[in-house]
Amino acid sequence: MNSKFERYLEGLIREEYIVHQAMNYSLLARSKRIRPLLMLTLLQDLGVSEEQMERYFPVAAAIECVHTYSLIHDDLPAFDDDDYRRGQLSCHRKFGEETAILAGDALLTDAFDLVAGSDFDPDRKVKVISLLSRCAGSNGMIKGQALDMQFEGRRVALDDLVAMDELKTGRLLMLPLLCALVLTGHDEYYDLFSKVGKLIGIAFQIQDDILDVTSSSQQLGKSTSDRENDKVTYVSLLGIDEAKEKVNDLFSQVRDLLAGKYPEIQKLLDRVEKRTW
Ligand code: IPE
Ligand code: IPE
Ligand code: MG
Ligand code: MG
Ligand code: MG
Repeated sequence: MNSKFERYLEGLIREEYIVHQAMNYSLLARSKRIRPLLMLTLLQDLGVSEEQMERYFPVAAAIECVHTYSLIHDDLPAFDDDDYRRGQLSCHRKFGEETAILAGDALLTDAFDLVAGSDFDPDRKVKVISLLSRCAGSNGMIKGQALDMQFEGRRVALDDLVAMDELKTGRLLMLPLLCALVLTGHDEYYDLFSKVGKLIGIAFQIQDDILDVTSSSQQLGKSTSDRENDKVTYVSLLGIDEAKEKVNDLFSQVRDLLAGKYPEIQKLLDRVEKRTW
């Protein structure tokens, strides 16, 4: 499934112009692909067969495009000002700021057309488009990024930090789970997977904050700049040990919620729990 999806991504953007080149440069670089994998894996647990899976690729790709856009903009000098991403120079360092901004904008905008052009009922597509917009937009990831900038160098309460993590990272991790439910008509699991998505989103960002101080930029494939940027993180507030405990606690809450009923998702999450990059 992974390599098929990867080939699908490779064929997505035709390089007619420099902006397309920059889009592919960031989209196709080494990534864990957690968000599309969450969607495709939950679909597996919901009974979608390998042969049927390709139908879902445009939506999974749209989510990956939106995530990649968020990374390109996150690295810009106005934000984290980072030189490396996904094992290579960040988009603006390779192509210049103007092209990087546009490549991000284009990945975001084109994502909606991918969903619109997918092979599902119009009402389901509208629901996915709405979810995509809400999770990424001004009350979702963007609000989280705004808080992240606002919090730099400040004293922040733990609850505010968790609220920020849930928005800036949590929403785009919840999104693929909810899209899988919408596209298969399983609305009855919506509350369960909203909770699961929220918990893994926070856990994923705390892991990211831990790795920023415990790992090398080479291993992560990206710059480690939280301390330099005076970021408020779980590690800066509580230290590494407590941060690690929190991650364990969140993953065990997720395990309890899933209650052994979603084996493929559970296996994927077990891998995410142990991630080293
Ligand atoms: C990095 O996301 C940004 C965060 C939300 C923590 P990933 O760690 O999923 O990055 P890629 O997609 O593997 O590059
Ligand atoms: C960014 O968080 C989350 C996004 C919305 C892109 P970080 O700034 O910690 O992500 P990295 O460490 O640069 O990948
Ligand atoms: Mg950031
Ligand atoms: Mg960053
Ligand atoms: Mg980080």
